[in-house]
Amino acid sequence: MSINYQDRIPNNVDLGSNRILQRALEHWQPEFLKWWEELGPKNFQVADVYLRTATSVDAKGWATYGYVRMPEYRWGIFLNERDPNRRIGFGDNFGQEVWQQVPGEYRATLRRLIVTQGDTEPASVEQQRMLGHTAPSLYDLRNLFQVNVEEGRHLWAMVYLLHAYFGRDGREEAEELLERHSGDADKPRILGTFNEPIRDWLSFFMFTYFTDRDGKFQLKSLAESSFDPLARTCQFMLTEEAHHMFVGDTGITRAVKRTVEVMKELNTEDPQAIRNAGAIDLPTIQKYLTFWFTSSLDLFGSETSSNAASYFANGLKGRPDEAQYEDHVAIDQVYEVQLPDGAGGTKSEQIPMRNAMNEVTRSSYVRDCEIGVKRWNRLIEKAGLSFRLSLPSTRFRRNIGNWAGVPTTPEGVPITAEQFAAGERGWLPSESDQAFVLSLMQGVHQQGKMAAWIAPPERGINNNPVDYEYVKLH
Ligand SMILES: [Fe+2]
Ligand SMILES: [Fe+2]
Repeated sequence: MSINYQDRIPNNVDLGSNRILQRALEHWQPEFLKWWEELGPKNFQVADVYLRTATSVDAKGWATYGYVRMPEYRWGIFLNERDPNRRIGFGDNFGQEVWQQVPGEYRATLRRLIVTQGDTEPASVEQQRMLGHTAPSLYDLRNLFQVNVEEGRHLWAMVYLLHAYFGRDGREEAEELLERHSGDADKPRILGTFNEPIRDWLSFFMFTYFTDRDGKFQLKSLAESSFDPLARTCQFMLTEEAHHMFVGDTGITRAVKRTVEVMKELNTEDPQAIRNAGAIDLPTIQKYLTFWFTSSLDLFGSETSSNAASYFANGLKGRPDEAQYEDHVAIDQVYEVQLPDGAGGTKSEQIPMRNAMNEVTRSSYVRDCEIGVKRWNRLIEKAGLSFRLSLPSTRFRRNIGNWAGVPTTPEGVPITAEQFAAGERGWLPSESDQAFVLSLMQGVHQQGKMAAWIAPPERGINNNPVDYEYVKLH
């Protein structure tokens, strides 16, 4: 039986004439669908969801909207168009031709980089699988599912690279991507943040704001790679990733907006009064922000890293927006990092720039995170309220890197373990904070209705009204 690959798996990698790839994917696709049924969004598999699907990489095809049942979503394989003049943009081989095949000496490292990125995609679907039940509106429910199917597509994109360029080891890695599961005691996902459960929508919005933004910066680094198919895959994924961060950004904005409305109505800044009125008090929003921001900081790795240095030297993983830097070889430069001095204080140290690439990327990420915080604070300030949200120091609550296990205040001042234990309840979501937020999570699945803890969005999806029937439940 001949299969129309363009229908089943929209692609621009000429899947229709590549028999080896077809066979590999034919074996993998049923496993993927089984995984989706078991660990994808729970209980909404027969709903008709107003989703966008990428059917080509051009302006017309990359976002085609229509009602789809999620298991029938057409997960495609797309790479940005090849630029025949593209040259290696950084590192020791700067200026040479980019690679269309994997160089033997970097095979294991590139495979590891692809697997580590690929592992995060299905992980987040698993983390979010119960959220459909408690969606604050059909608009939000649809956005959740849009994020989920696209993370599924990102998994496909990475599996394509493994199948097409890494032979048998690649196929084995592709299988293992479906065998590890978020939070699994025996086979957890590779990176810590992707094993944290997401039980409520405040966490979901924080995750899509902070953790998908980590994804953005990882993809930007890989989009610079000298391995051209990887670079082009990541460039296309970034177009979809923007919507995930939009969901987080506007979700937090709407929660803050509703809280501020309640504070104004009641003329109080008392958190308990806000909670009694069914909104999330700003100190609790701050704690969730602190949790997910700090958890995401670890994803960039250690401040000083010889791995990062060799990824850069070898041209495997660059700095986000490498073109903005003047020196793409970065061999004689230094970077100043703040490290714990081992005696309860801090010291600054100059390290070779190449070893500081994780920190360089993390710093760009922090600046990007600040944009939303400023906007949320303007909302609060305009209402005449004194509370301000803020990003904690990058030293706070770290589990990876030079600050791992070093207790500090949210401002980054080293303190004793006892002081940290005493302050923790005020800095991070406590059990009772989590129980309160969970208590607000009642699914609102009627068309045009919105949960009381969150303001409606400014506009709908694809020029449709906010009260459009974004999900048809049966
Ligand atoms: Fe993704
Ligand atoms: Fe994402």
